[in-house]
Amino acid sequence: MALLDRAIVRVLPAVPKPVVKRLSSRYIAGDQLSNACRIVKALNDKGKLATVDVLGEEITTEEEAIALVAEYEHVLEAIQREGLDSNVSVKLTGFGLKLGRDFCRGNLARLVRAAATRGNFVRIDMEDSSTTSDTLAIYRELRAEGLDNVGIVLQSYMKRTLTDIVELADLKPNVRVCKGIYVEPPEVAYQDFETVRINFAEAVAALLDNGSYVGIATHDEWVIAESLTLLEERELHPHQYEFQMLLGVRSHLGDELVREGHRLRIYVPYGRQWYEYCLRRLQENPKIAGYVAADTFRRLARRR
Ligand code: FDA
Repeated sequence: MALLDRAIVRVLPAVPKPVVKRLSSRYIAGDQLSNACRIVKALNDKGKLATVDVLGEEITTEEEAIALVAEYEHVLEAIQREGLDSNVSVKLTGFGLKLGRDFCRGNLARLVRAAATRGNFVRIDMEDSSTTSDTLAIYRELRAEGLDNVGIVLQSYMKRTLTDIVELADLKPNVRVCKGIYVEPPEVAYQDFETVRINFAEAVAALLDNGSYVGIATHDEWVIAESLTLLEERELHPHQYEFQMLLGVRSHLGDELVREGHRLRIYVPYGRQWYEYCLRRLQENPKIAGYVAADTFRRLARRR
């Protein structure tokens, strides 16, 4: 399967852009903010929350980072103007993490303050392991400045995650737990599927026991079932946690959670850089190409 995934990734750049656009339209709202707002409205109408992600983490200049922050300010403005139930998710490399830590922290603080004035919330996505320590340190600094409308992501494939949870416990952080999407070496990340799953459940349990608000971000039925057991054992109410999923991925699972009364937030990416983003993500992690190909074939077969 891994070989097939890599083969799909190799031929992708040769696939005409309009074809890639059609395939990716299921996972990406479009290139404009208005596209994202339309999708968020439709999700809200179905009882789902959203988090909007502006594609653009591959920046090389301070001007690009500042432009990305400004775009996020437009997103917050649009969410408020249109009465949408959505927050935003950001990547610190997009805000200039690799250009300068203080520069990046300043950009993030500006957005978190802008979100606070609109009663909104900023989630800091977690990127590859070269960014983990800086991301958590910047988060801690913002909390020390009194900014509470900000949350982080912890990845269950990372060997350090349970320790990070202990070290962050005093902040009662709002945490999205996910498996982790970047290809990481065995020194820092578990490679075994079952270990990553078990670590996911352990991370969720540790955070819930700490009184943290947890976003359980997965499409894995086993992890969802384990998490539901953990929530039930602690007699938590739906406003004390949420499930999260990616736009276009296994929506039947999300529908089921919503029917059962759980909160579900959908990750809605949009942006002009959708093509570069798709290619880069698929090249970084060929497993995703396999998922997309399998899903596309399944849907085509169903149509016949
Ligand atoms: P698993 O990988 O086992 O997938 C279960 C099934 O879901 C697959 O068999 C497939 O059918 C389907 N599936 C999963 N991902 C798919 C995809 N992309 N396209 C098509 N089908 C797919 N990672 C990270 O490193 N930092 C982050 O900040 C985030 N943020 C984030 C937010 C949200 C809301 C979600 C849902 C996920 C993330 N992730 C992430 C990605 C996450 O780390 C992980 O790679 C994916 O969620 C896939 O892991 P699952 O738990 O779904 O299991």
